[in-house]
Amino acid sequence: MSAPNKSYDPVEVETLKPEEIERMRDEALAAFAAADSLDALHEAKVAHTGPASPLALANREIGALPPHAKAEAGKRVGQARGAVNKGLAARQTELEAERDARVLVEEAVDVTLPYDRVPAGARHPLTTMMERVADVFVAMGYEVAEGPEVEAEWFNFDALNFLPDHPARQMQDTFFVRGPEGTEESGSGVVLRTHTSPVQARALLDRELPVYIVCPGRVFRTDELDATHTPVFHQIELLAVDEGLTMADLKGTLDHMVQALFGADMKTRLRPNYFPFTEPSAEMDMLCYVCKGESVGNPDRPCRTCSSEGWIELGGCGMVNPRVLTACGVDPEKYSGFAFGFGIERMLMFRHNVEDMRDMVEGDVRFTRPFGMEI
Ligand code: PHE
Repeated sequence: MSAPNKSYDPVEVETLKPEEIERMRDEALAAFAAADSLDALHEAKVAHTGPASPLALANREIGALPPHAKAEAGKRVGQARGAVNKGLAARQTELEAERDARVLVEEAVDVTLPYDRVPAGARHPLTTMMERVADVFVAMGYEVAEGPEVEAEWFNFDALNFLPDHPARQMQDTFFVRGPEGTEESGSGVVLRTHTSPVQARALLDRELPVYIVCPGRVFRTDELDATHTPVFHQIELLAVDEGLTMADLKGTLDHMVQALFGADMKTRLRPNYFPFTEPSAEMDMLCYVCKGESVGNPDRPCRTCSSEGWIELGGCGMVNPRVLTACGVDPEKYSGFAFGFGIERMLMFRHNVEDMRDMVEGDVRFTRPFGMEI
């Protein structure tokens, strides 16, 4: 049966001598002091407090000592380890504070520096204007509807009661993508739509009644680009088809629109006109929002916006022609409707004193910038 060593064994306990323990402690503390980063400190920590560190190994030797020597050696090693842990924690705190201070300096953000050298873009004022107008109707429960820009001649003209010999169909007004190709048959060609009204026919064919839609879109006519014409421009179309709609509903809707866009004291007036797809048809004017009509017959107060006419021409409107309703499968005995359409470029011109239409198409940011980013 084995028994603990009776005699003191100087070989085995060499590492437990007081000066050895002190050396280990001091080496550890010196290593911590020398560590100049948290990573270096971690390495020193593993070397001097880890399971293979001299003090941990010395601690293991205690068991081999004779009982009377164990307590004292245990106390010595324990104190040394305590001092090492304390030294480690102190250096850890110091290095962390240094790192935090450095991060604050190195990662500081100078909020006064320019944040972006690429100027923010802006929406084109035509887009903004179109969306503003559409919003007035969306707020009343209308839906936004869209149609193709390359349109069947049938939708652009025939469904809208343009007879085959209507002058608008001529090559000098309309961009034909594909002509009727030698046939006498009308409506078989393909055109760039000349107005947004074909969306009326598409909506009536596609949707359940009643129909309340607003259609913003790009349209095309064979005009030369000059200060007051452009071959590509924009319109907004409105269509309401329901039971019992009358001209009074049309007038009230127009008045509401100009009031929403130009101010509460605005109104519109209708002048008789002709469109194949509305009957009766009218030209719609709005009161001049600048002089409110006060420049008329008043040479002391001339108005540049309306040329002292008191009214500004906006676009066309009318009650949907029963022939259009029939062509689109709607019973004109039961349903009636109104429609109107007008050009956005013109509205932008008089609303913002844009004098030359070419400014709107040339894409110069000096023109768009003053309108801002407004959405
Ligand atoms: N489409 C017509 C135009 O381009 C305007 C209009 C729309 C007229 C709806 C009446 C009803 O001039």
